[in-house]
Amino acid sequence: MGRKVVAGNWKMNLGLAEGVQLVKEIEANYTSNDEIRVMAFVPSLFVSTLADTASSLEIGVQNFYHESKGAFTGEISIEQVTGCGAFIGLIGHSERRSIFGETNELLKAKVDAAVANEFEFIFCCGEPLEVREAGNENDHVRQQLEESLFHLSANDMKEILIAYEPVWAIGTGKTASTQQAEDMHSAIRSWISEKYGEDIADSVSILYGGSCNPQNASELFACENVDGGLIGGASLKADSFCSIINA
Ligand code: 13P
Repeated sequence: MGRKVVAGNWKMNLGLAEGVQLVKEIEANYTSNDEIRVMAFVPSLFVSTLADTASSLEIGVQNFYHESKGAFTGEISIEQVTGCGAFIGLIGHSERRSIFGETNELLKAKVDAAVANEFEFIFCCGEPLEVREAGNENDHVRQQLEESLFHLSANDMKEILIAYEPVWAIGTGKTASTQQAEDMHSAIRSWISEKYGEDIADSVSILYGGSCNPQNASELFACENVDGGLIGGASLKADSFCSIINA
């Protein structure tokens, strides 16, 4: 399946000095290898310093804007991000969608800007609790992918990373069961395969996110279609993050 990835999403946590310390501790505790990519999505203000601090840990941003410059107060462009030493970003985290109103249409513009700039990204998708309770999670996630991602060419699609993060599992301590995770991950892979063919579907890394921790990571990562994790709370301490990497 896709290449293995373990990525921390620090969200709006930690100060700069704590961030520097965490990067050093993570790098002291894991040995990077060709099989697993390890990343941290950090507050954008910290990117420059942390990219200088890190050697093998990949530093990314949690958000960016699709325009290249201009009157967009408070936003950052891909060029500004790469100029500070980060070469990957998240697109469409559920907190960006629900708190900041980002729509599938806006996310499509971000996807296009990223592809045009050869900027790598993890596209986040996932259903809220009420959608799962109504049994509509597959339709919901498929629509997120159709409306923001599935217009890409096969060549661009094979470079994409996807994170499935059921909203009801984020920060709640409630993890998707391995069955729920595997069902959605294999559904996502089959939709990619329908549109782009099996080889491309197999090359896309599909990460799971939502209350992933050192206790449940190995079980989740053992699922056939789970290629790694996007980790929130448990990425803020080197010991728990490194245990997840080792899982
Ligand atoms: P938690 O691991 O804290 O549930 O957060 C998951 C997440 O949102 C990662 O992007």
